[in-house]
Order: sequence, then structure tokens, then C-alpha cells
Amino acid sequence: MNEGFSPCGRLFLEGTRYTPMDIYWLEQTESDVPANNDWLSLREATVLAALRFLKRRSDWRLGRWTAKQALAACLNLPTDLLALADLEIRAASSGAPEVFLHGDPADIAISLSHRAGTALCTLGPHGRNFGCDLEMVEPRSAAFVDDYFTAAEKALIADTSPSGLPLLLALLWSGKESALKALRVGLRLDTRCMSVSPGHTVPPHPYASLGLAADSGGWYPLCVRYSSTQTFSGWWRLETDLVRTVVSDAPLHAPMSALNATTASALLA
Ligand SMILES: CC(C)(COP(=O)(O)OP(=O)(O)OC[C@H]1O[C@@H](n2cnc3c(N)ncnc32)[C@H](O)[C@@H]1OP(=O)(O)O)[C@@H](O)C(=O)NCCC(=O)NCCS
Repeated sequence: MNEGFSPCGRLFLEGTRYTPMDIYWLEQTESDVPANNDWLSLREATVLAALRFLKRRSDWRLGRWTAKQALAACLNLPTDLLALADLEIRAASSGAPEVFLHGDPADIAISLSHRAGTALCTLGPHGRNFGCDLEMVEPRSAAFVDDYFTAAEKALIADTSPSGLPLLLALLWSGKESALKALRVGLRLDTRCMSVSPGHTVPPHPYASLGLAADSGGWYPLCVRYSSTQTFSGWWRLETDLVRTVVSDAPLHAPMSALNATTASALLA
């Protein structure tokens, strides 16, 4: 198990409010998803049929597939298509994903993101607040910076070289979306109500210069300050041109691959 945890998570430890939480992650791409829908429950198939736009249908299927693969790996469940249909991801009224097994609420929580044909699912104990997000590293406009970031974030942006900006902006934006998911509100909240700070210097391109930290599986610490009383701690990771962030209101160990999850008890404890 990885012993590293995000430095801003240490704030919580001082108050011993929580012990650091294990979180697992899995990614899948569109080419992993079966063409048929046998792995969807009846209810999921009905939801899918009501989605009007092809891209939304494809993102939704990819997210469900990724979640089911991650859940099966962490809970030691069979992965044949019909068994996967017994695992169901329903949307709460907020849009947040909730897990059901054989029609009953499962004792596990997930967060989902899909972007550019890749989906990320993170899994943790039921009742804990966490969120994940995938964001593309790409050029963004000055208006985007003006509209969505806090003064502290703008100061960090102003201090960053032009070549490092696409990565920094993707990282800051992704950290906010992860925190908004952890709060289960999404973009109903103003993104300037929270300030993201990477706990590790963001290097300039080329990304290869990053190197992947051996002790944290390529994950680097991240902090999201929401209010004087609420701080999210988490991690970010860069691979190809996508940034991933995972944050929680409890301190987190660096995320571990769901494929390395040995038993469900790790999550359900
Ligand atoms: C949550 C949100 C910020 C994610 O947007 P995004 O970056 O474009 O999309 P991502 O792929 O990263 O994440 C989408 C996933 O977030 C999850 N999600 C959606 N709303 C969520 C919420 N309130 N809390 C936590 N997770 C949420 C869902 O699993 C969703 O995928 P799915 O619908 O296929 O199950 C955005 O959907 C949002 O703000 N939603 C709330 C506002 C809203 O409901 N608007 C109208 C929608 S009908």
C-alpha cells in the first residue's frame, strides 16, 4: 500500500478527523467497450435509449463500462457480460453516480469522468466525499482565465511560463471539477468559490520531463481550498494529453490501480 498522502491532507490529520483513505482508479477507452449492451441492466438500457445525442450516449456507455470494470475488480465480481448487468450505476437527482448490486444500494462509492474517448472511475468507501475528473491539456483563452479562476490561481498562472500554461490550466480546472463532484453539486457553484494549488511544481513541456514519481505511481499532490472550514486534498497525474485529478474532504493515499485491489475489504473496511 502506498504510504504517501497529499500534504494538505495533513491538515485533517492534525485534528484526527479522519484516517487517510484508500482510493482506487481505473481507466478505459472507447475501444474497450463491447458493441452490444448485454452488460447493461434493464434500467440502464432504458436510460441509454432516452439519450438523444450520439456523443452523450457514447460517453455514458464508456463511463458505465469503466465503472463496472473497476467495481468488478475491487469487489472480486465476475466480469462476464451478464454478471456485469447485475451491477448498476444510477444517477442521483444531482447527477452523481450511485452503485447498486442486484438492485440494492452497494456499500461503495464512485466518481466518474469521461473525456475524449477515455473514462476514469475512482472508487472509495461508501459515505466518503470524493470526486475525480479528466481534463485535456490544450490551449485556453485569456477570457477563460478571467472568468473562472480566483486571484490566487491567477497569480500562479501569471508566474507560469507560456509553455507550462496548458498543463497548469487543465490541472486547476480539473481540480475544481473534482471538488465540485465531491460536493455533489457540479457546475451549479461558481468555480471561483474554490482555489486549487498543486503541491508540486508544475513543470513546463515536454511532459516527458515530468518523470513519474516511483513512490506515488505518477500521482502528485493537490489542494483545493473551498472555504475557511473546508479543504479538499488530492492528487493529480498526467498521461498522454490528459490530466486526472482526484480529491476528497478527507486525506487520501495516492490513488491505487483498481487492478491491484486484492479484496473488497480494502474498500469496505
Ligand atoms: C458534474 C459536472 C461538473 C461534470 O461535467 P463534465 O466535466 O462535463 O463531465 P465529466 O465527464 O467530467 O463528468 C461527468 C460525470 O460526472 C458525474 N456527475 C454529474 N453530476 C454530478 C454531481 N452533481 N456530483 C458528482 N458527480 C456528478 C456523472 O457520473 C457524470 O457522468 P454520467 O452522467 O455519464 O454518469 C457537470 O455535469 C455538472 O456541473 N453537473 C451539474 C449541473 C447540471 O446538472 N447541469 C444540468 C445537467 S442535466
